[in-house]
Parts: sequence; C-alpha cells; structure tokens
Amino acid sequence: MSYDLIVIGSGPGGYVCAIRAAQLGLKVAVVEKEKTYGGTCLNIGCIPSKALLHASELFDEAGHGFAALGIEVPAPKLNLPGMMKHKADTVAANVNGVAFLFKKNKVEAFRGLGAVLAPGKVQVTVEDGTVQVLETRNIVIATGSEVTPLPGVEIDEKRIVSSTGALDLAKVPGRLIVIGAGVIGLELGSVWRRLGARVEVIEYLDRILPGMDAEVAKQAQRLFEKQGMTFRLASKVTGAKATAKGVTLTVESAAGGAAESVEADIVLVAIGRRPFTAGLGLEAAGVAMERGRIVIDDHFRTNVAGIFAIGDVVRGPMLAHKAEDEGVAVAEIIAGKAGHVNYDVIPGVVYTFPEIASVGKTEEELKAAGIEYNAGKFPFTANGRARANRATDGFVKVLADKATDRVLGVHIVAAGAGEMIHEAAVLMEFGGSSEDLARTCHAHPTMSEAVKEAAMAVEKRQIHL
Ligand code: NAI
Repeated sequence: MSYDLIVIGSGPGGYVCAIRAAQLGLKVAVVEKEKTYGGTCLNIGCIPSKALLHASELFDEAGHGFAALGIEVPAPKLNLPGMMKHKADTVAANVNGVAFLFKKNKVEAFRGLGAVLAPGKVQVTVEDGTVQVLETRNIVIATGSEVTPLPGVEIDEKRIVSSTGALDLAKVPGRLIVIGAGVIGLELGSVWRRLGARVEVIEYLDRILPGMDAEVAKQAQRLFEKQGMTFRLASKVTGAKATAKGVTLTVESAAGGAAESVEADIVLVAIGRRPFTAGLGLEAAGVAMERGRIVIDDHFRTNVAGIFAIGDVVRGPMLAHKAEDEGVAVAEIIAGKAGHVNYDVIPGVVYTFPEIASVGKTEEELKAAGIEYNAGKFPFTANGRARANRATDGFVKVLADKATDRVLGVHIVAAGAGEMIHEAAVLMEFGGSSEDLARTCHAHPTMSEAVKEAAMAVEKRQIHL
C-alpha cells in the first residue's frame, strides 16, 4: 500500500490534518494506537471535562443559585453514575463522529502503534504483535502529549490521579488536593468542589495561571476563593504516602524550609504535560529534538525530508485548536498550497465559572517588549444583561497599541467568556483597532456589550460607567 500522507496520531491535530489532506485530493491514512479516535482531547481531556463542568455547574446552580431567581426546589441530589454516563455518551458521540468523518473523506485508519522506520516508511505494530509496513510520500507526526510526572508523587489513578483519573472518580472526595494551579487544576478542581469536595490547590509559583494576564489571574483567584477553593501558593510538594484512608503529602515553601504534612482523600497531579514521542523511532530516523519537542521550521518540516510534525509534540501552546489549525496548514502545504497559522491570535480559555478567556498579548508581555499601549476596562457589574443573569463577576480588558490603536490583546473574565473572546480574535485577525470594535453595533442586552464598552474605555468614552 502506498499513500501520499500518513498521519501518526488521531487527536485534534492528526484527524483534522488527515481530513483536510483528503479534501485536497491526497490519499491519506491515519495510524492510531488507542481503540477510539480523537486523542487526549476527545477521550480524556477537553470533551469529557466539559461534560462534567457543564453538569456540575448546573448542579451548583440548582443548589445555590435558583432561590435568588425565585425558583424553589429541594436541594438537588447527585447521581454521580448518571453524570458520568452523560460524560461517556458525550465522548462516544464525538469519537464516533471522527470515525464517520474518516469514512466520509476516505481516510484509511490503522489501529496500532505507529513508528517511523525511515522517510517514506511507517511501521504499524498491532497489539497482538503483527507488524505491517506502509509506504508513503509524507509523514505527519501528531502524537500529542502525556502527563508530566511529579517525582515523589506517584500517580496510581486511584488515590493519586492525573486528569484521566480525576475525570473518573467513583465518589466525591471529602478532601481533594490539587497540585498545580494551571488550567487542569482549576477546571477539575471546580468540578469536584461543585459536587461537594473541599478543594485545596498547591502551586509552586506565587500566582495562579502563569502565562495569563496577572490582573486576570488575580481576580480569578479571588473569585475561586469566594467559591470555597483554597490556595497554597509558593509551595512545593516533596512527597506523597498512601495511607489506609487516603494520601499524606509533604509540603514545604517553594524556597525550602520546614516540611508540613497535609492529608487528602484524593490528590490530583496537574503540573503540566510533556510531548509524547515514545516508540516513534525518531532517533533512529534522525529527527532532531529539543527538550523533548520535535524541532520544525515555519512549514512544520522536521530536519528529515518528508517528515512533518504538529500539535503538542512541537513548540507553542499545548491547545487542541492550535493543533487543529496546524493540521490544516500542514495538509495544505503538503498539497502545494500556502498553509499558515497566525500564532499571535490563538485564544486561550479556562472553562471554570466564570470562564477566563484571552487572546493576544498580556500587559506583562507588552511591558516586557517595551510596547506602549492603552488599556480599556469594563466590569460586568455595569452590564444590564449580566445583572439579569446574576453573572456580574468579571471584566473585559482591551489592550491597544498607543500609537496605532491596533488591538494587541483582549482578556475576559465572565460567564461565557470563552464564546465572547472570538469577536476579539476576528478583529485581531483583520488587524482591527479598538475604535473598530467600539464602533461595531453590539446587540442589547448582551454580555458582549461589555467588550464594546471596554473598547470604548480605551479612549475613556465608555457610556455605562
Ligand atoms: P499548566 O501548565 O496549565 O499548569 C501547571 C501548573 O502547575 C503551573 O501553574 C505550574 O506553575 C504548576 N507547577 C509546576 N510544577 C509544580 C510543582 N512541582 N508543584 C506545584 N505546582 C507546580 O498545566 P496543566 O494544568 O497540567 O495542563 C496541561 C496542559 O493542558 C496545558 O498546556 C494546558 O494548556 C492544557 N489544557 C488546556 C485546557 C484548556 O485550554 N481549557 C484544559 C486543560 C488542559
């Protein structure tokens, strides 16, 4: 069998790349080692976590938010297996959707561990040991990432869990300790807090959500604390011991010093992810790596002709939508077109309540780069729809170049921020200014009016504040 393109890995990077290449007339195959397509995102990441975030948010709302709207219901009762079924059904519908799209686009799928034998040769090893070698003109590596382990805190996916185990707990823990105040820690910490766990987050740095705008992270921390989550910042976990009842963690200040014991029923390790390239045979094939990531040029080419790489195994943020866009771009490049990804406009969303969404530069990044800017801010306490929805927590911040008014970054903390951020992304993709945003008519009454008001606030001409 000979192909134009073989994609190794069927996550958002790989499956999107395969479909786009097939649309462009290439003969395409995908190699996937797991039983279902979709990678981490669809099986044990974005999709199942959003199913639980949505369900737990409604559970929380029914228990604590309805009365203020004049809706009296008895305290809601949790049916955890029922909630897990919603999660499993959501995952199944999505992974089956990818299988359907492969068929529709005539992408051939091989189940097994893919390895690069040489340029133009991909070996597929099936679970029963059968080996098959496929010939291809091009290879795209899209094998994604895996959980970064924490020395001294061994993940057993029962008491000490990664995000995978945290999506599948059999009961609500009394006390959940989350190690790492990043995206996974805050999202899955939120799920279990809403369902009744006491959640403490231990973070090495002196702030949460590193990389996000500092003002945004600070307000988010205050809101999470108001919800009952507690934070132990500038602290490190140096060991974990399983006990009859749970786990005992040894925690000390990040700077060192006296160790303290902390008890938990469940510990979630969420200190980041690292590229997954095990078993790919990259070293033998001569593919250059740097600090675990495959090195690529602007056209996703590795140093070996005919071998490309995208997604979490290469530089840049480990985000499904970044991988998807790279998948489209590399497919187009292989098909002789001009594929491109604009890394300056990749939105990032934390799906907590409220959501935290951002696109472009933070204030800290602009200051570090010596770029002068104007900031316009608008709080949801001054937005009519937010009041009607009892969703007044949060704000919008628009950062625009001082000289040209071009929008360089937008940051939103709000219910629905993850949907609202995209008008900023489109604006920035077109090189728009804060005035463009401010003069665009926004429907009333919507939360999005706060985006417009923040843009108006860049020139201090907001109406409702
Ligand atoms: P992360 O990089 O977002 O956060 C990890 C946190 O752990 C950081 O705050 C870091 O300072 C801290 N940390 C590192 N070592 C530590 C230690 N020894 N002790 C205490 N704290 C420590 O990583 P996370 O949350 O595990 O997520 C992994 C990847 O998955 C990220 O790239 C993230 O972007 C992606 N992801 C994205 C989501 C989204 O877009 N909504 C959802 C979930 C994950």
